[in-house]
Amino acid sequence: MFKTVRGMRDLMPIDAERMRHVEQVSRTISKLYGYEEIITPVLESYDLLAAKTSEEIRERMYSFKDLGGRKVALRPEFTASVARLVATKLRNEPKPMRLFSVGSLYRYDEPQYGRFREFWQANYELFGSTRPEADAEILILTNDLLKRLGLQNYRFKIGHTEILRGILNQEGMDEGKQNSVRQLLDKKSWEEALAIARDADVSQNCLTTLERLFETRGEDAFQVLESVKEIVQDYESALAAVENLWKILELVKDSGTQLEVMVEAGFARGLEYYTGMIFEPYVPELDVALGGGGRYDKLIQLFGGESIPAVGVAQGIDRIVLSLKKQGVSPKTAKEKSVVVISMKNESMAKALELSDALRKSGLPVEVAVMGRSISKALADADRRGVAYAVIVGPEELKEEKVVLREMKKSEQRTVEISNLTQEILASST
Ligand code: HAM
Repeated sequence: MFKTVRGMRDLMPIDAERMRHVEQVSRTISKLYGYEEIITPVLESYDLLAAKTSEEIRERMYSFKDLGGRKVALRPEFTASVARLVATKLRNEPKPMRLFSVGSLYRYDEPQYGRFREFWQANYELFGSTRPEADAEILILTNDLLKRLGLQNYRFKIGHTEILRGILNQEGMDEGKQNSVRQLLDKKSWEEALAIARDADVSQNCLTTLERLFETRGEDAFQVLESVKEIVQDYESALAAVENLWKILELVKDSGTQLEVMVEAGFARGLEYYTGMIFEPYVPELDVALGGGGRYDKLIQLFGGESIPAVGVAQGIDRIVLSLKKQGVSPKTAKEKSVVVISMKNESMAKALELSDALRKSGLPVEVAVMGRSISKALADADRRGVAYAVIVGPEELKEEKVVLREMKKSEQRTVEISNLTQEILASST
């Protein structure tokens, strides 16, 4: 017997529906905020994808040689593909440029709760602006999506890559070691991160600053940022980073968006390309991030383009679905007004098909009974599948231009005029 490949899943109708619901709301959000959808290939050249993700993702890519001997890989994220487009075909487009993508991604992660080898993201990238309102937009948009989906108690973990980079650059630490520090911080291994700094011969002042920094976090954003300012006062670009994060969060707050945050001065994300504000939303029910994003002003030039600033976010659709399930939030399903049309006799079948078509034209989801079952068996089947209405088409009623309409939940039925059928269903309260 064949099984799915390890880490791959079949999504059964109920889960597929939940995934598509999140996808649909994420697409609505893209339209509301002016992000145009692009569709890029699942397969890209290995070198493009490997160029600037992180060691960790690079090692977990599904990479192979195609039959033409090209080294290719399944995309582990959208950002590299979008950056490729912006550096090439879209390079002369006027800015700002807002791009949306949704689809499946592949990472050879160790399968566990909320971690799959094939997963879905809704990805938003905003190109062309270095200003804090661009960062604020990405936070507001993410908050809007999670709120519209009905998610509760989510909180944004927020930081800024240049706080740490400002300190370590000033101390002369090379980019390779800095990446190692960031990877360790991403895994919350603060002690080991400090050990790398110690081995790299940074100043005592730097070690004390880092120790204090890694402990600084809290829900009162401006209070935390006030402490961070004091801690990094000897490091000019770290101070500028704190100011930048302050402005972003101030804009979000003054816009009236209620964002629950946890500002963490030592927060780092696994990806290497970030150069500014970074964030991840969490819910208490799940210990993995629902999404992740941030500013990355240097990636486009790496792909051969001119320097174009960028900020973006990828929402993890699978994890959002898991959180909604845990919180007992389910999307309103089409079944609420669903109809099955059953023909009593062969001679009324054509009319049953005609009626089905008319009902669908009014937006009602309609299934036709196609198994040739008796009325009672067809009704039992409709009941089992949670269909809301049955329309029974029989030669006797048809003579008077009527059919039987049955409300499945109430087990009540009545004869209705065909001309009133759609109206009767739409107006009924089931
Ligand atoms: P990321 O943090 O690697 O960022 O992924 C974003 C989200 O994708 C995660 O928070 C998670 O919800 C989901 N995700 C990642 N890996 C898995 C997995 N193995 N199973 C299930 N869900 C997963 C990025 O991908 C960046 N490209 C985001 C970005 C866009 N930054 C700027 N623009």
